[in-house]
Amino acid sequence: APIIAPDITSVCKDAKSGIGNTTDAVRTTKCCPPSIGKTIKPWVFPTREVTKLRWPAHQGTKEQVAKYRAAIQAMRALPEDHPHSFKNQAKIHCAYCNGGYTQVESGFPDIDIQIHNSWLFFPFHRWYLYFYERILGKLINDPTFALPYWKWDEPKGMTIPEMFVPAVVDRATNPLFDEFRNTSHLPPVILDLDYDGSEKGIPAPQQIACNLSTVYRDLVRNGGDTLSFFGGEYVAGNAPVANGAKSVGSVEAGSHTAVHRWVGDPTQPNSEDMGNFYSAGYDPVFYCHHANVDRMWKLWKDLGIAGHVEPTSSDWLNASYVFYDENQDLVRVTNEQCVSLSKLNYDYVENSKEVFPWRNSRP
Ligand code: C2O
Repeated sequence: APIIAPDITSVCKDAKSGIGNTTDAVRTTKCCPPSIGKTIKPWVFPTREVTKLRWPAHQGTKEQVAKYRAAIQAMRALPEDHPHSFKNQAKIHCAYCNGGYTQVESGFPDIDIQIHNSWLFFPFHRWYLYFYERILGKLINDPTFALPYWKWDEPKGMTIPEMFVPAVVDRATNPLFDEFRNTSHLPPVILDLDYDGSEKGIPAPQQIACNLSTVYRDLVRNGGDTLSFFGGEYVAGNAPVANGAKSVGSVEAGSHTAVHRWVGDPTQPNSEDMGNFYSAGYDPVFYCHHANVDRMWKLWKDLGIAGHVEPTSSDWLNASYVFYDENQDLVRVTNEQCVSLSKLNYDYVENSKEVFPWRNSRP
């Protein structure tokens, strides 16, 4: 049977799994979503919508960046207990990833849900960003609003996008800034897509070449079939799959986790914010990073290689999560519903002719 999220507003406990140091955690471990008296309804596809076009963060126009800032600002300005508040949006990740929910709906009340390290990784994050984007669009009244993506698979995108790193004087007023980041990894330092906690200190051109090979590795060499790309099966009754387990998908285990570790502040007790599941959502760059991770799913499909297909098992198709949508309705969404980007009405703009600059970077 598939993993099914419970009624998140009534069945939820404080987060603790995966947070090594809960006593001096920088962010709260009380990650349960607010209850506003809603009952869950099945989600339905929206109709008659314009396609939202996600844009590369390092190539955003003034207008795109300004809108994005305004939207995050508006989100930060909401009362903290609002389901759309910046904090409650960040807590979604914490609750789904650090033991907030159990598999009670599938008859296993003593087993936690963990949407990482398995085939739930891509679809869960796709949905998380889907609602996040629509909430931001609604906050600034712009039905075309689309998230930026951190295009770390292209050489020019291989630093933290500048808009997230305002000048020191602007930090207090810039909603895209987050103080809990590794300060030795700010631009113009080139990202290490294979970062394991140790600094390689190699020259930029070499690091860029390594990064392209890492993308190739994650999308082609290590992601040759459905489960190696998505991650292993994870169904009702299974204990949460541990970090580092064999069943982690190629992108999740590789470039995705490397970016988290590279951005998080190693001097904080749990490498907050990006370096731990429970706190990652507090850094606005998280959603920008995950937009690119989501785009990797699309690129992997678009490569058109035999074997690059989504799981077809009903245990994957019918796995479901519960979110507050942009209207503060509590909706249940399934993996099956998120497979087609065109049905979800968003897509990724590719601003360079070279869509796969790493295509010939076979290590
Ligand atoms: Cu849910 Cu990038 O982690």
